[in-house]
Amino acid sequence: MSATDEFIARCVATVATDQEPAATREVVEQALRDQSVAKELSLDAGVRVLHGGEDLTILHVVMPERPVGAGNPVPHNHCMWALIGVTHGSEHNRFFRRAADTIESSSEQVIEAGEVLVMDADAIHAVKNPSTNRCSSALHVYGGDLIGAAKTMWCEADLSELPFDFLRVIGS
Ligand SMILES: [Fe+2]
Repeated sequence: MSATDEFIARCVATVATDQEPAATREVVEQALRDQSVAKELSLDAGVRVLHGGEDLTILHVVMPERPVGAGNPVPHNHCMWALIGVTHGSEHNRFFRRAADTIESSSEQVIEAGEVLVMDADAIHAVKNPSTNRCSSALHVYGGDLIGAAKTMWCEADLSELPFDFLRVIGS
């Protein structure tokens, strides 16, 4: 069994007994410490589904270097808890809170290789690779069926809430 398959199996077993992210976080932290999964992952840009199930979704997200002057990434939600474990480079997260009919920025956080970020089910974030000369690679783990969930995003000049559009979010 590859290290990645073993990692997936451990995450699946964890959510089967605990719907909260704490135990899954430990699995992700262990994977980052021993780097066995990272060694098996490609650094080619893209979003790859490592596991898709009712209780758990695991993505491998590689974001290319971000050109100087690139626009802001699209804020979105997941409608379930989420863990991001960075294996290479870093990810910049800006967090938002709902305000009347739109959202407003509330905080930001950069997570570096080896670090894990946990987001609650009601979190709204926009994520980007902050580097202009290095790609980012991360395991994104979600406590449910991310692909089937009724997620939303906030775009356009007025940051109005719209149904989630994968290509628009990934392309931002
Ligand atoms: Fe996200």
